[in-house]
Amino acid sequence: MCGIVGIACLEIENIGKMIRRCLERLEYRGYDSAGIAVIKNGTLIVRKGRGKIAELNKRLKFDEIYGKVGIGHTRWATHGKPSDENAHPHTDCRDMIAVVHNGIISNYLELREKLESTGHVFRSETDTEVIAHLVEEHLRPGSEPLDAFRMAVSELCGTYAIGLITVLDPSKIFFARMTSPLIIGVGEGMNMIASDIPAVLEYTNRVIVLKDGEIGYITPTEIYIEREGRPVSWKERVRVISWSVDMASKGGYPHFMLKEIHEQPLALSNTLSGIEMENIRNICSLLAKSDRIFITGAGTSYHAGLVCDYVLTELAGADVTTFIASEYRKYINAVDERSVLIAISQSGETIDTLMAVRAFKERGCRVIAVSNVVDSTIPRESDMVVYTRAGPEIGVAATKTFTTQIMVLTIMSLTLAYMIERLREAEYRELIRQIRELPTVTESIIRMHEARCMILARYMKNRANAFYLGRGLGVPIAMEGALKLKEIAYIHAEAYPAGESKHGPIALVERDFPVFFVVLDDYYVEAIVGNVMEMRARDAYTIALAPRKYIYKFAKLCDYVIDMPNIDYRIAPIPYIVPLQLVAYYTSVMRGLDPDKPRNLAKTVTVE
Ligand code: F6R
Repeated sequence: MCGIVGIACLEIENIGKMIRRCLERLEYRGYDSAGIAVIKNGTLIVRKGRGKIAELNKRLKFDEIYGKVGIGHTRWATHGKPSDENAHPHTDCRDMIAVVHNGIISNYLELREKLESTGHVFRSETDTEVIAHLVEEHLRPGSEPLDAFRMAVSELCGTYAIGLITVLDPSKIFFARMTSPLIIGVGEGMNMIASDIPAVLEYTNRVIVLKDGEIGYITPTEIYIEREGRPVSWKERVRVISWSVDMASKGGYPHFMLKEIHEQPLALSNTLSGIEMENIRNICSLLAKSDRIFITGAGTSYHAGLVCDYVLTELAGADVTTFIASEYRKYINAVDERSVLIAISQSGETIDTLMAVRAFKERGCRVIAVSNVVDSTIPRESDMVVYTRAGPEIGVAATKTFTTQIMVLTIMSLTLAYMIERLREAEYRELIRQIRELPTVTESIIRMHEARCMILARYMKNRANAFYLGRGLGVPIAMEGALKLKEIAYIHAEAYPAGESKHGPIALVERDFPVFFVVLDDYYVEAIVGNVMEMRARDAYTIALAPRKYIYKFAKLCDYVIDMPNIDYRIAPIPYIVPLQLVAYYTSVMRGLDPDKPRNLAKTVTVE
């Protein structure tokens, strides 16, 4: 986690302000401390501290730093608590070198011991600081900083995206990448490095996604990349990104999360028009030939995987196993060349998912990636890819990337069922027609229910716990609803298949305990009515999301109802999550929290 930025420009610029603005676009990656280092007139200026970027800018005046070359960092603490000393950039003993880093240097204790024994003095508890001292150690009189940087990087184990500047070569920013994401922004008279694309969009939409093992440097006019000691040609790797800077700004909304919830109709319609059916059919041919399908992801992406699992199993009769990415080891011996893994990751960089992909590939398994970020690591390492076109998602809680993931996965599952003749053509066409209407359906749900979700949030804001119950495809939606409430409103929320609640969880229910019911499948309506009665009998506060055709039934039984469109249950997960996102958002705001930056969380989890 953590976000890094580096900018090299031809003329003296208000570089502190430029770096600060880029860092703000990366704050979703971590926000417990931040800092900037700039080379000015041959000396290093470093300003850093604990806190969010806006507060630090007032205190440390980032905006008043001028120069041509600088680096910046926004932190999500791993080694060493959030503090002024542990904030990046870190420097060497003589303040000649400054470094920012995202990742974990796993051998830092050995390196630190070795460096301390040769007289280096450390000022922080971080793993990162060893990099500055290592480069200092390798800088012999007459040696090139690039050589010293190369030697230092060769001693590092673990994961890293590094940006480093030194007064000994003041026009360059040195970089290296291993597992943690890093891109180069290719500008006019300026070049940049950053952890993610939104950081550079204000200055350029031309980017190079660096690969593992690549190191090099940028100057305002030059880009040098090498791999295993040999220069790499990069011109053909420059991608023009269609995201605009507006897409990565709040555009009048109080929070990115609210903007991104509201952007779902557009994100769904862009995803729909970007889907290449030829690609989907090729993927389905691969799935049809496989013996076993595995699906993996983390957090929200795992929930999207569960939706796909349900449709593939029920409709296509496939043999599907869905698992949380960090738990992949259990399945390793069940994987071979006849298995296929669907790896879901909006960022394409989540380390747990990437590890599962690599382990499965080693066993000969073919991998299909579903991601929102073009050229990110997981799609790059997969055999086939489907991209969602949600645009950049900055709010830490996934919203529009979730609904677009489900859209892509549902189209894939339905197409497979049709190809293998488990779904008749007329039914397939009808389901695809309903999918095409989802942007409009989602838009009307936001318009009709936003105010009702706010009213519900007023109730939720004073609660300590909540249950989210569903059956069938309602279960992953209940899980996602509970995750949203937990992560941004800090209310303990658990999701269960509704039938399971009687096997333990109901013991917690007492007067006014909120219980959400996700009712999206005719088949389960009566069973869920029974579950509602059980909760009412214990004075729970019951809330149902139910199709319009059943709304009177549920209105008579429940304390609060949200009426949902009468659509096929296999399509319903997409609109059903929207009110639950809104309830979580408004509950967070009413509790005085910042839904864009929930405590202890970072958007892209690049450490195991
Ligand atoms: C929750 C959330 C996380 C991510 C998870 C996986 O709102 O955003 O649970 O879904 O960290 O991230 P990706 O999809 O980037 O692999």
